[in-house]
Amino acid sequence: MKPYIFITRKLPNDIVDQLSLRYEVSMWGYEDIAVPKERLLQEAAKANALLTMLSEQVSEEVLSAGPNLKVVANMAVGYDNVDVNTAAKKGIAVCNTPDVLTDSTADLTFGLMLAAGRRMVESSEYIKQNKWQSWSPMLLAGQDIHHKTLGIFGMGKIGEAVAQRAKGFNMKVIYHNRTRKTEQEQRLGAKFCSFTELIQSADFVVCLAPLTDETRKAFTYEIFKQMKNTAVFINASRGGLVDEQGLLTALQTGEITAAGLDVFEREPISADHPLLKLPNVVALPHIGSSSRETRMAMMQLCVDNIIAVLSGEKPPALVNQDWKPKN
Ligand code: DGY
Repeated sequence: MKPYIFITRKLPNDIVDQLSLRYEVSMWGYEDIAVPKERLLQEAAKANALLTMLSEQVSEEVLSAGPNLKVVANMAVGYDNVDVNTAAKKGIAVCNTPDVLTDSTADLTFGLMLAAGRRMVESSEYIKQNKWQSWSPMLLAGQDIHHKTLGIFGMGKIGEAVAQRAKGFNMKVIYHNRTRKTEQEQRLGAKFCSFTELIQSADFVVCLAPLTDETRKAFTYEIFKQMKNTAVFINASRGGLVDEQGLLTALQTGEITAAGLDVFEREPISADHPLLKLPNVVALPHIGSSSRETRMAMMQLCVDNIIAVLSGEKPPALVNQDWKPKN
């Protein structure tokens, strides 16, 4: 019997065909609607491999439903939606999509800095709403990006790529990370600092750390209060790192000046959310890695991960490094 693969979102034929050639494949039929938990549980019970999105909770319940499950290939670099510990105990390989999305996500993060700092979305709305009367000296004046201090929280590969871009803008780069990165410090001219120093001295605070028990709700009102009043806060990692009520209050009371958000505590965020009513918030629907090239590369890496595991080989992007192929 051929191995059975379940794909939790409608993906392009070019991608699916590579799996259908080798395996029995079933796929959830929608591109923009998440698979219901009940269906995921039913499919996990039969599947040898799941190709999942970050919007699915691949919980202990899901992993336990699948006695034959060998691999979860998650189409994201982040894997906070997968219970990796349970997977490891069950001998299930958890795979992700690092590297292929680094530059696209860094581009978008930098774009958010520019958009929020220079009030681009607000300015675009202003002109479209026919509010423009005349050129005026301080019309929609924002914050400069060049020569400012960029504070990166989470110096992984995407953080490094953002620091690289900041060099071109003559920014001073400081960072805080669980471990110090001396090679990157030399190569990128970045300076390691404490979390407190980062939030107090950065003009742009950019959150790029993964969501873990350590980083959950790292940014609260108390933290925003310590930032400069002119600070711009960017989140391009996971919404769970931020206490959104605290961010809302900080923006409303002028503790910080603006925010650029690609991720939210609950996704999709409702258009009625008070954060989305603020003119100084630039909000995007979690599109950090969403260029055509990169999303195709992420899907391809998921396919490669699945084929490797089901062929008894080490996959190209393995999260639980202790996993070993079974003979
Ligand atoms: C990731 O890969 O974790 C991103 O958030 C998805 O674009």
